[in-house]
Amino acid sequence: MESPPTTPETVFSADRKPARQGLFIVIEGIDGTGKSTQARRLAGWFEGLGREVVLSREPTDGPWGRKLRESANSGRLSAAEELEYFLNDRRQHVSEKILPALAAGKVVILDRYYFSTMAYQGARGFDPQSIRRANEQFAPVPDLLLILDLDVDNALARIGHRGDEANEFEQHEALQRCRDIFLTLCDEPFARVIDSDGTLDEVTGRIHAAVSLALAPQ
Ligand code: TYD
Repeated sequence: MESPPTTPETVFSADRKPARQGLFIVIEGIDGTGKSTQARRLAGWFEGLGREVVLSREPTDGPWGRKLRESANSGRLSAAEELEYFLNDRRQHVSEKILPALAAGKVVILDRYYFSTMAYQGARGFDPQSIRRANEQFAPVPDLLLILDLDVDNALARIGHRGDEANEFEQHEALQRCRDIFLTLCDEPFARVIDSDGTLDEVTGRIHAAVSLALAPQ
């Protein structure tokens, strides 16, 4: 079933919280689920509603994020160092960008956040719940977490995976663990699982429907 048409009224009806209040939305999911595209579209949608939007991503383009992206190519970081770098990157992101934008009443949309650390570093052997606790000591919990969900075969096909067979098996296993960890969050009151099997427009429709419903007055 696809989404009902969305109008500004369904998002900002008269008795909703004042417009000048920050809204924090995080988009998560395994690689290949279309997070970045959907994050951009959601940002455009809020801008169309007259909201000021900060669209950002993790790892960031800051010094720690750059080191992480470089290491993804050179593969030089140990699992423990990698975890530490993600936390350092996030601390800086939270204090320099996320909190100030929310305090200024903006809509903050993130493409990945600490749920990715739970999933990916969890898949590398760390305890996802310890990762969550460590992050929530400094990182604000979002108002809404959209988990873009897609089965791993589909996700790998979308990113055009061309590994040898051993690599492919390993990557499949790792992404399956990530997906399973993301789905452990499905009962959190702030989380919505979005079926990401379908066209970009279909998934966008599902996201708009979920966001409208989540923000509608209770
Ligand atoms: P990704 O969003 O795929 O960036 P890009 O589109 O530039 O490739 O993120 C890069 C990788 O970083 C991705 O495979 C997931 C991983 N990652 C973690 O392992 N832990 C984290 O905490 C975050 C934020 C990302």
